[in-house]
Amino acid sequence: MIEGERGVLDLFRIVNHLVLRPGSGGELALTVVTRSADDPASAAALGFARSVRSECERWRVATVDIGPGDPAAVRPAAPGDYALRAGRWYREVLEPVDDTAGARPVLREGGTYVVVGGTGDVGLDIAEQLVRRHGARVVLVGRSAPDEDRAARIKALDPSGTRVEVHRADAARPGELRAVLDRVGDVHGVLHSVTVPSDRSLAALDEESFLRGMAAKSRTTEALAEALGDRRPDFLALFSSVQSFLGNPGQAAYAAGCTAQDAIGRALAARLPYPVRVVNWGAWSGSALTERHRDRLAAAGIHPLPPEAGFEALSRVLGRQEVQVAVVSGTDGFLGRIGVPAAGAGADARRQAGAEAEAAPSAGTAATAGAGVPGAPRRRTRCSPSSARWPVSGPVSWHRTTCSAGSASTRSRTRG
Ligand SMILES: NC(=O)c1ccc[n+]([C@@H]2O[C@H](COP(=O)([O-])OP(=O)(O)OC[C@H]3O[C@@H](n4cnc5c(N)ncnc54)[C@H](OP(=O)(O)O)[C@@H]3O)[C@@H](O)[C@H]2O)c1
Repeated sequence: MIEGERGVLDLFRIVNHLVLRPGSGGELALTVVTRSADDPASAAALGFARSVRSECERWRVATVDIGPGDPAAVRPAAPGDYALRAGRWYREVLEPVDDTAGARPVLREGGTYVVVGGTGDVGLDIAEQLVRRHGARVVLVGRSAPDEDRAARIKALDPSGTRVEVHRADAARPGELRAVLDRVGDVHGVLHSVTVPSDRSLAALDEESFLRGMAAKSRTTEALAEALGDRRPDFLALFSSVQSFLGNPGQAAYAAGCTAQDAIGRALAARLPYPVRVVNWGAWSGSALTERHRDRLAAAGIHPLPPEAGFEALSRVLGRQEVQVAVVSGTDGFLGRIGVPAAGAGADARRQAGAEAEAAPSAGTAATAGAGVPGAPRRRTRCSPSSARWPVSGPVSWHRTTCSAGSASTRSRTRG
């Protein structure tokens, strides 16, 4: 049972112990129980567990979110991620929707945009597009100065030195970020594009590296929101990853950081007076991260997204109402793995999940409109199923699954 940050650390320690013990390659059942997938610690446990499931192929890893339910009622479940409410089992799906509906333009001509982690690959690509397409003033924030290549890229983008600024600050420290924001003045949009390399197999992942990798996403997101204080930018965009839904082997810390960041983003969106968007990017073409995983991405059926396409998707996401959006491109097999119903099944899924949301009694917290676990806050995650169809996207919905004799089993991903 995960309770608070301590619970995530305990889970890490248990897994670490199990992985390092003799015979760790054998069969084992691990069921992680959480109270709310919208609590950052529980969300981190979910991302971590997903990665453990991918890496430890003979382990049967399940997560069960029980809300206010009794943890004693949970028995080991079939591998997968579930929510259990009033005796009924649900699963999360990423539901594609037709994105032909318009998005209101949000990016201003000549606006000022702060990109935290902006001297990284994705941040620089975004900066380039902001300057080229919108004549923006872009403020890049990182702990270290850009290396020679990046400095040359910035110089080429802004020969006069009036459009792009680089400020040094540690995004885990609100005070340092606040000092940058104070120097910048009016800010129209803020983007969080922070991560640190944290890829390691579970056997090689020590506690410090795990916490560092996770905090690079979660702590910096919280610190950025804190630093923004009473400011009212047009938006705050948080760059997360499709790892939130995949949990690749060797990326347990990153996956935990991403799911925690998603939950923090959703909570900020509910609390802050300006739009907060969480973007779960698929692979970003040309980035070192994508290069490091090139073979694995190809094998998984993920198509890297060109920066121009990514930027256009971002512009649309900012102008729409969904809080969490996955922008990905890949084969149907890959999309199935992250929970996108097969083409044509979306309407069925929506109908089915909607009917279940109606049929099931509310668990007492905010009821959700449309599909969802009764009593859980509505989540909207959008995705683009293929380069030809992007950005087709839709809300995350939870999908009912059957559970019998202590093991949850999915009848069908789209019929529940
Ligand atoms: N690249 C992809 O294919 C891909 C796919 C999915 C999602 N994403 C997301 O996109 C974002 C950017 O990824 P990327 O590929 O551009 O990574 P990257 O090239 O490693 O850039 C990350 C940047 O974050 C900065 N950073 C790390 N810790 C920081 C801190 N405490 N304070 C301030 N800056 C910090 C780093 O600069 P310093 O070390 O100098 O601080 C670095 O410039 C991440 O959120 C990632 O999760 C990327």
